[in-house]
Amino acid sequence: MSYEFPVTRTQHPKPKPDQSNLGFGKYFTDHMLIMDYDAGQGWHDGRIVPYGPISLDPASCVLHYAQMMFEGMKAYLTPQGKINLFRPDMNAKRLNRTNERMCIPPMDEELFLDAVKAIVKVDADWIPTQPGTALYIRPYIISDEVSFSVEPAEHYHFIIILCAVGAYYDINRGGLTGSHIYVEDEYIRAAVGGTGFAKVGGNYAGGMRATKKALENGCKEVLWLDAHEHKYVEEVGTSNAFFMINDEVITAPLGGSILPGVTRDSTITILRKWGYQVSERRLSIEDIEKASKDGTLQEAWATGTACVISPIGYLRYKGEDIVINGGDVGPVSQKLYDYIYGMQTGVVEDDMGWIVQL
Ligand code: COI
Repeated sequence: MSYEFPVTRTQHPKPKPDQSNLGFGKYFTDHMLIMDYDAGQGWHDGRIVPYGPISLDPASCVLHYAQMMFEGMKAYLTPQGKINLFRPDMNAKRLNRTNERMCIPPMDEELFLDAVKAIVKVDADWIPTQPGTALYIRPYIISDEVSFSVEPAEHYHFIIILCAVGAYYDINRGGLTGSHIYVEDEYIRAAVGGTGFAKVGGNYAGGMRATKKALENGCKEVLWLDAHEHKYVEEVGTSNAFFMINDEVITAPLGGSILPGVTRDSTITILRKWGYQVSERRLSIEDIEKASKDGTLQEAWATGTACVISPIGYLRYKGEDIVINGGDVGPVSQKLYDYIYGMQTGVVEDDMGWIVQL
């Protein structure tokens, strides 16, 4: 079954932004998709309307108890003028895993995918083409039930908004660079049993205090350690983390506190295909320090939809810098970036079957 969405076109299209200065989340497109949920009708009344403010009762559940979720995806324009989505089925599946955790009703995957395709097609002329840019897609669900009871709502809105974006980290604008990351051993991001594996706003709000501390210490982001012992590396800011030591690529296992990133999964699959040894296992910050001292720490990088592949050049830990690959972009991170971003933008052949072309 395929779903259709009526379109009300804007009478006031906005000028397109300068592609060399897009930032991340500054330039929203002309339209958005909205769909409603209530217990009787399920998800219904999906429609595309001009982008603009939404009206919410001030007592809406989401404003007080944060019952919400979101996804993040990107669309790209190929040199042949086709629109590429990257593994959107993974987002549809993750949406339902998050919904289950947040007591939000599930959504038919086809409905989600058709909604994403429909809104991207309507605003396709917003997809930027300069190197490092993309059309960022932000689907999200909020509960608009008017109630102060702390219990799952029966009314929700599903909304998709789009924005033309540049590189997530400003510093990367002219190409990849090795970034400074602060190893956070006081605050934690998520504990097993919590919502770390789900894509919910609260995870990000709870992380801001640590990011502020990282910035005050001259770093761009934090490296989160596990909640229990503050010892094992988990994620980098809003992204998954990878370390290459003695030819082994290591990333934290999906044990409940780690976000199952689409780029994380893609990185693991590609590296294994290329013949690298990849382990999803716990790695302590002490082992990283030790590897740095004995010369076996080769590379580190973050992966995410927003940042794609973002190399780590320095880890600030207890006042000292662990320098990785001389602070520069390593060959494996560069190769991964070229391959993944190349596939996404249609300049590298998709031999994984991951691209969905509109
Ligand atoms: C993404 O990588 O898509 C994310 O969701 C990170 C976001 C907070 C910008």
